Amino acid sequence: MRRLMGSPRWLVAMGMMLALTLTVAVGLIGQEAAPPSRLPRLRGRCQVCHRTETVEWLQSAHAKAWTSDAFIATTDNRTRKECLHCHAPDRILVTGFGKEPSLRNESLEHGVDCVACHEDAHGAHHGTLGTVTDKHPTVKNERFGTVEQCATCHAKFGTVDEFKGTKWASDPKSCVTCHMPATKRPIALDSPERPAHVHTFKGADPEMFRKGVKVETKVNGDRLTVRLTSVEVGHNFPTGIDTIVAVVDVQIVSDGKVIAKHQTLLADDRERGGSDTRLKPGETREIVVPLQGAKGEAVIRILHKPLRDLPDEKATVLFETKVPVP
Ligand code: HEC
Ligand code: HEC
Ligand code: HEC
Ligand code: HEC
Ligand code: HEC
Repeated sequence: MRRLMGSPRWLVAMGMMLALTLTVAVGLIGQEAAPPSRLPRLRGRCQVCHRTETVEWLQSAHAKAWTSDAFIATTDNRTRKECLHCHAPDRILVTGFGKEPSLRNESLEHGVDCVACHEDAHGAHHGTLGTVTDKHPTVKNERFGTVEQCATCHAKFGTVDEFKGTKWASDPKSCVTCHMPATKRPIALDSPERPAHVHTFKGADPEMFRKGVKVETKVNGDRLTVRLTSVEVGHNFPTGIDTIVAVVDVQIVSDGKVIAKHQTLLADDRERGGSDTRLKPGETREIVVPLQGAKGEAVIRILHKPLRDLPDEKATVLFETKVPVP
């Protein structure tokens, strides 16, 4: 250390090299070709042989379940005991589907990791393919990927009850059908192509939203109507714990200035003495915005917030469109 401090030029050179290495590393992440050394070391070292699944899972909310800002904020920096076990769970195949998991004691930062979903008490990995390998034991389990599995953690805040009333409930695998799109590819290093499932678990995301909710807008005289129809969402929009809200945000812009703003909250306010204004499966909702003579352009956005007091700038923009207001 002393020697380093004595040679500043060398330090600068080191720093530049480090910066370069970091740039290269960042450039590679997100591609299937990311070398295993750049992927985090997961419990069970799945990343060594299942790179594609690992790179996808890293982009998912499951990977951030322990580290998300909203989770840290709502749990007093992860000290509220009753909140921790689903956000860094141990193996649900040990505690059993349908029973709340237990909090594990290692690699908490990886949230809902591969082992939490796939590994049983004997170190075997469950799936539905029936592959055989000398790398680890596997178990063909027909209950794997059913609503029952997802319900282990997703039932508590209502998503599964909401789902049960829909036309998708007759298919016991429909959480997976909508959230883990089917594909064909090798599922491990040197494996042949097999039926497989994308592991990004996209949820509150613009592409998912466009598939799930139809948005129509119309200007008629002195009012703008925004009509939302839930066409392919197997539960309420939004769903989950009641800190999660969506906002229909309308701004009237004239000569580059916002001259009017109108917001509608879609939220479960029942615990707050209010009502549940989330969009139900199949429901059509019309939001009417009075224009009061304003002229210019209406900017319509659908925002998603994991925390209701999150400023609009930090929300996920699920949808945006502009319509002229003549
Ligand atoms: C040393 C390499 C290696 C490691 C490490 C590894 N796997 Fe595998 N895994 C394989 C191979 C090879 C197959 C079989 C591929 C084939 O036949 O197409 C497989 C198959 C599977 C399957 C398919 C089961 C079925 O339905 O047939 C699952 C699920 C799985 N692994 C999960 C995991 C998880 C989770 C981890 C980490 C805890 C892990 N694996 C670690 C190599 C590995
Ligand atoms: C062991 C608990 C657990 C299981 C099992 C589980 N999840 Fe999750 N899931 C979570 C947690 C916790 C979050 C919230 C993560 C966060 O804090 O953002 C989540 C978030 C999600 C999201 C939200 C993504 C987003 O961007 O908003 C989707 C979609 C999802 N899970 C789908 C599934 C599906 C499908 C299954 C069944 C195959 C499943 N989950 C099984 C715990 C689980
Ligand atoms: C929230 C639970 C969950 C997590 C977390 C999860 N998986 Fe999966 N995984 C599934 C489900 C569900 C399937 C599909 C089961 C089926 O065939 O319907 C699956 C399938 C697989 C398969 C078989 C091929 C395929 O895509 O269908 C492999 C291999 C696999 N997962 C590896 C991993 C690895 C590696 C990780 C971590 C990087 C991981 N999984 C994280 C739930 C999970
Ligand atoms: C018919 C397709 C479909 C089915 C079935 C479905 N979902 Fe979704 N899900 C969506 C769409 C579309 C979105 C994006 C809109 C949204 O955020 O609600 C979504 C969003 C989510 C989210 C993100 C949170 C949020 O704020 O809305 C979670 C978590 C989730 N789904 C879990 C599940 C679980 C668990 C199941 C099974 C019980 C399930 N989904 C069944 C289509 C589906
Ligand atoms: C039974 C399992 C379970 C327990 C216990 C649990 N959560 Fe979650 N949590 C989830 C699931 C599943 C989601 C994903 C819900 C969704 O997006 O629809 C989630 C999502 C969240 C989110 C929003 C996503 C984000 O950005 O992280 C917050 C915040 C959150 N939980 C906080 C808490 C708090 C606070 C508690 C304790 C009061 C708690 N959780 C207890 C399963 C659980």
